[in-house]
Amino acid sequence: MPLSLANMRRQYTRDGLDEAQAPENPLTLFSLWMQQARETESPPVEANSMALATVDEQGRPHCRILLLKGFGEEGFSFFGNYDSGKGQDLATHPWAAMTFFWPGLERQVRVEGQVHKLDPTLSDAYFHSRSVASRLGAWASPQSRALDNRAALEALLAQVGQRFAGQPVPRPEHWGGYCLRPERLEFWQGRADRLHDRLDYRLHDGLWQRSRLAP
Ligand SMILES: Cc1cc2nc3c(=O)[nH]c(=O)nc-3n(C[C@H](O)[C@H](O)[C@H](O)COP(=O)(O)O)c2cc1C
Repeated sequence: MPLSLANMRRQYTRDGLDEAQAPENPLTLFSLWMQQARETESPPVEANSMALATVDEQGRPHCRILLLKGFGEEGFSFFGNYDSGKGQDLATHPWAAMTFFWPGLERQVRVEGQVHKLDPTLSDAYFHSRSVASRLGAWASPQSRALDNRAALEALLAQVGQRFAGQPVPRPEHWGGYCLRPERLEFWQGRADRLHDRLDYRLHDGLWQRSRLAP
């Protein structure tokens, strides 16, 4: 039987997004929504998971799920392997877009801006907050490279386990954080009958300008 998606739809009636209540600074609103998402979204949704889109040398987009590890006026941070697909994309085109989806709240947030590598001391601090197993994994996994099979990955892990046995595991140079400095944030709140609320914030000369977008 063909799988029909065309008739799948639900009404979004949980909340609204009104200019009168929306703060001047989008980071304030993001902080509130993230807090509410953490309280509302239950496993398996991780409130800090997001889709990160980057563009490669040929201008082709690539999108994958990552975990946001911090945010503020200075930017939105995430971590991974600098030699991975996303690492190569960002080395060529240091621009990215993040999309958060919080289904329990009927909300989406889009964040766009330029990306730079985090200061090494911040990457070190985050790396050392992770478990030893995760730290060894960062050494062992040549993220986004082809592997012959699962056993090949386990062999790489065994090698690094031996190399660092009984010693502290330092952060590998090829692994660390990125910071996306936002120039645009868009907040989407689902409403009834597809008349959703969308508030768009854009940075102009250091000031956030807000407008409502048609759904
Ligand atoms: C829930 C979830 C969380 C993830 N978190 C991260 C992350 O924080 N950092 C990361 O590098 N990859 C993370 N991944 C794996 C990425 O989606 C992706 O496979 C990996 O970063 C390699 O992508 P790339 O080749 O485009 O660089 C996560 C995947 C899922 C499903």
